[in-house]
Amino acid sequence: MVQSDQHNLDDLSNLGNGDITSCEVENLEILICRVEGKLYAIEDNCSHADTPLSEGRLSGFQINCPLHGASFDVRDGTHSGPPAYTGVRCFKITEDESGVSINIEDKNDNPEEGPQTGYFQTR
Ligand code: FES
Repeated sequence: MVQSDQHNLDDLSNLGNGDITSCEVENLEILICRVEGKLYAIEDNCSHADTPLSEGRLSGFQINCPLHGASFDVRDGTHSGPPAYTGVRCFKITEDESGVSINIEDKNDNPEEGPQTGYFQTR
């Protein structure tokens, strides 16, 4: 039996361009934002030190971590440089007349160096 990684989410039609929200799917915190009319979804957890990126600032396609300022591209989860050393997971999110759904399987097989490990806990 194949287990689906597809999950339906609440209506996000009120999420405007530049807006950020977050949700939890299967114990994963996920940041969802809208840029240029399209939804993007990445793991809501900075790869540097376990901080919610949804509390950061979104500028174009870049989300800046509120703690030390690392930035990540919401289109693919890649990071721009230190203090983060890896990207974050990125998920396929779709929005159509039937609603919003997200696939929590990694969108990229290898977003940069792969899934982050070993970050330290701050919350
Ligand atoms: S916790 Fe995000 S840059 Fe340090």
